[in-house]
Amino acid sequence: MLSTLDQIEKKALTELENITDESALQSWRVSFLGRNSPLMKVFDQLGTLPREERPAIGRRANEVKQALEAAFNARSESLRQAALQRSLESERLDVTLPGRPVRRGRLHPATQTLREVYRIFGEMGFQIYRSREVETDEFNFQLLNFPPNHPARDMQDTFFVDAGVDRGDNPILLRTHTSPGQIRAMREFAAMDPQNPPPIRIILPGMCFRYEQVTARSEVQFNQVEGLAVGENITFGDLKGTLSDFARRVYGQHVRTRFRASHFPFTEPSAEMDIECFVCGGAGCPICKRTGWLEILGCGMVHPVVLRNGGYDPRRYTGFAFGMGPERITILRHKIEDIRNFWANDFRFLQQF
Ligand code: DAH
Repeated sequence: MLSTLDQIEKKALTELENITDESALQSWRVSFLGRNSPLMKVFDQLGTLPREERPAIGRRANEVKQALEAAFNARSESLRQAALQRSLESERLDVTLPGRPVRRGRLHPATQTLREVYRIFGEMGFQIYRSREVETDEFNFQLLNFPPNHPARDMQDTFFVDAGVDRGDNPILLRTHTSPGQIRAMREFAAMDPQNPPPIRIILPGMCFRYEQVTARSEVQFNQVEGLAVGENITFGDLKGTLSDFARRVYGQHVRTRFRASHFPFTEPSAEMDIECFVCGGAGCPICKRTGWLEILGCGMVHPVVLRNGGYDPRRYTGFAFGMGPERITILRHKIEDIRNFWANDFRFLQQF
C-alpha cells in the first residue's frame, strides 16, 4: 500500500510537469485528487486494513494529498502568470505612439464681437436682457409704432410662422430686429412696480431674420444688439455720450463720431451714428465709399407711444434706444468681404479668427 502511494505521487507529479494549460490542469486535478482518484480510493480502503497498518498508511496518504495539492496550486499560479505575461506582450500598448490631436476650438468671430460689446456695455452698467426670436406682429411692429401697412415695414419683410389658425393682423413671425425686446423688457420691469416703474439700462442681443435676397452684403439672418435706457431726465446728451464712448472703446480713443438725423417709427428724434473711417482716417476710401464716415448704428429717443406701450408714463419718463449690427463691426474690423461667410460653416473662414 505504501508503495502504491509512492507511485501515485510520482506519476501525478511527473504528469503535472507537462501541463501547460488550464483545462489540462483541471483534468489532472480530477484524475489525481478527484472523488474517484486512486488516492481517494486509498482513503476509502483505510478502514479495511489491519489495525496496526492504518496509522502509517493514513499518514502517508495525507502527505501525498498535501503534496499534490501544493503542487497543483503552484502550477496553477505559474500558468496564471504565464497567461498574464502573454497577454501583456500581445496586447502591448505603445505609449511612445503620438496621440490623436484634439483640435482646439475657438469662438466664432461674431461671438467674439458680441462678447466685446457685452463687456463694454457691462462696464457702463447695462445688463443683458434676452428676448425671443419668434415674435408676433404686434410686438415686432405695432407696439413699436408701426401700424399695419406702414411703409417702414417694407424694409423688414420677414418669415411667417404658420400658426394653424388665421391670426388676422397679428401673425407670428421671426423677429426682424431686436427692438420688440424693448416692449417685453419695459413691461417686465414696469410690472415690478406699476406706479413707479424702475429705471432700465439693458442691451438686448440676438438673432434677427429678414426675407431678403442673399448677397455678399445681406443675409437672411444676422445678429443685432439693441440698447435701451429708460428713466427720469434721460436726454439726447446721454445718448450721444454713451454711444460716442462705446465707439471710442471699440475703435480707439481718438475716433470721431457724428449723428445724422434719420427716421424710425419707435424713436423721436431719430439719428444714425457714423464713425470716422478708420481705414482712411476720414480722407475717403472704397470702404467708406469716399465719404470718410462709416455708418455704425441707428438710435434715438424712445417714442412716447412706445414708452406708454411698455408701461412707462411718457410725461414722467424719457429714454434712449439704439440698434447695431455686430456683424458689421466684425466685417469692418477684419475686412471681411462676404457676409455669407458668417453662417456658411466653412472651416477655412472660421480658422482665421
Ligand atoms: N430696429 C432698427 C433696425 O433694425 C435699428 C434701431 C434703430 C434700433 C434705432 C433702435 C433705434 O433701438 O433706436 O433697423
